[in-house]
Amino acid sequence: MTMLEVEDLNVGYGDLQVLWDVSMTIEADDDVVALVGPNGTGKTTLMKTLSGIVEPTSGRIELLGEDVSAYDADEIVSLGFVQVSEGRNLFGDMSVYENLRMGAYQHRDEFKDTLEEVYEMFPVLAERRDQDAGTLSGGEQQMLAIGRGLMAQPKLLALDEPSGALAPQLAERVFEKIEEISDDVTVLLVEQHVDRALDLADSAYLLENGRITQAGTGQEMLESDHVRDAYLSG
Ligand SMILES: Nc1ncnc2c1ncn2[C@@H]1O[C@H](COP(=O)(O)OP(=O)(O)OP(=O)(O)O)[C@@H](O)[C@H]1O
Ligand SMILES: [Mg+2]
Repeated sequence: MTMLEVEDLNVGYGDLQVLWDVSMTIEADDDVVALVGPNGTGKTTLMKTLSGIVEPTSGRIELLGEDVSAYDADEIVSLGFVQVSEGRNLFGDMSVYENLRMGAYQHRDEFKDTLEEVYEMFPVLAERRDQDAGTLSGGEQQMLAIGRGLMAQPKLLALDEPSGALAPQLAERVFEKIEEISDDVTVLLVEQHVDRALDLADSAYLLENGRITQAGTGQEMLESDHVRDAYLSG
């Protein structure tokens, strides 16, 4: 079954149109699908539209065969699309444990089992369960944000620049975790580290000036002259 089907999506803020006729497909057996493109091109806007936070002006979004174009954010989470937003959005004066519990607000029954799985994947979160989220290091906060997303038991997990603002070594740790997560959950990955994202991706989309200008397998995109010239210098 198709996990996500986006057709001719147009999105804007007031008079400013940001996304133009965006279409994309994510298959249920995709591990990682990457969305790359320059700053300000509409990647986060697309994530917010898919997760029901921003309303499209036209177009269609189908999640697991269901038309969710008019669904609100809670309904989309309950269908299994969970987004970890750029900038992490943690509750800084709440503990690691409390942040994780917030992530499970729709799945109270399975909370304990899911928590064990998340602690197993991110041992540092288990060690620091009682520490305030705001006092974690940048890398730890990113792990917590991803862990909180997993607490919602996603089928499709969207990560908006999970390596943002992290030193290269920490960014690499995050990519390793993403690879691990993608064994069980399909990951939609928005990234500035274009080479690393395309390397992980089964398929990838390039968004430029609010339009999808190129799509293909991760490997095809890595070999594309335009992608190499514009985004893989060095
Ligand atoms: N709430 C908003 N109101 C008005 N304009 C907005 C709003 N959010 C985003 N924009 C504008 O929409 C455009 C796309 O922004 P968006 O955040 O989607 O880009 P992005 O590709 O995620 O960029 P980055 O790589 O820097 O995160 C930008 O010009 C931005 O200023
Ligand atoms: Mg963004």
